[in-house]
Amino acid sequence: RIPLLIDTDPGVDDALALLMAFNDERHEVVGLTIAAGNVGLAHTVGNALKLCDVAGVDVPVFAGCAGPLLHPALDAAYVHGQDGFGDIGYTPSTRRAETEHAALAILRLSHQYAGKLRLVALGPLTNLALALKLDPSLPSRIGRLVVMGGAVSAHGNMTPAAEFNIAFDPEAAHIVLTAFPQFELVDWEATVAHGLPHEQVVTWLEADSPRAQFFRDISRKTREWSVDRRGNDWFAADALAMAHALYPQGATELALRPLAVELEGRHTRGATVVDWQREHGGIDNATILMRYDQSRFEELIRLALAAG
Ligand code: BDR
Ligand code: CA
Repeated sequence: RIPLLIDTDPGVDDALALLMAFNDERHEVVGLTIAAGNVGLAHTVGNALKLCDVAGVDVPVFAGCAGPLLHPALDAAYVHGQDGFGDIGYTPSTRRAETEHAALAILRLSHQYAGKLRLVALGPLTNLALALKLDPSLPSRIGRLVVMGGAVSAHGNMTPAAEFNIAFDPEAAHIVLTAFPQFELVDWEATVAHGLPHEQVVTWLEADSPRAQFFRDISRKTREWSVDRRGNDWFAADALAMAHALYPQGATELALRPLAVELEGRHTRGATVVDWQREHGGIDNATILMRYDQSRFEELIRLALAAG
């Protein structure tokens, strides 16, 4: 099976992405490295452990960085709830995170599965940036890096120009996206193009499985917020990134372009700047997902929720 390492900040859509990965027989999730992001690290770690319990999987969870490299943390509690999982008051897991730091776990696993490891980043890129500072040779051992982040035409969700994962820690994103000669990006704009109709989501959540029931509960608040704020569709960014990571054959349109992260700018800090015309001499480092097979995306979600 293909070893998959997921760096994540759960988060409701992170949870859905993790369930998709747990349900894929061709991949083995070898670890979850956890960052602060949607909410603080204590909650994102606790949420990851709880989700593993609900799914009945025994995957090691590694706590990582508690905040961005340089600047104060943002959060997305207004989207995901104060605890990141919809404030349902679940009973915490009795399991604990490993003692090894997430950045060290990334490096160790990259040696253990050298050349084969697939890395999927669903949160701010702080842990990966730290791992790269400890060992700049990391990219040579990674088979594929898929990142959920960015807004390639500057239609951001955190600011008008920037998407949350990149805006949370632009310096980390810069470090990671310049260190990897090639990466795949699933951005906020692709997410919006692949919205999930709320009526459809509700039918998947009726499945008689602990995974569907737990996900129904933790997603209730954010789905209500989304109906109020965004209308008919629910946007599950991390789930789309995971669909692409698990089934790249589902991509129907990709764009290979030079991409850089803006670190300054009053209005544009955290923006992902793409040379769409390929006229400015940059290296084609980003394979940007433009469109994905919507029915495959929806089927992966349906199956992930019904499983177990
Ligand atoms: C990203 O930000 C977070 O709120 C989501 O979990 C996703 O990773 C979308 O911008
Ligand atoms: Ca996330």
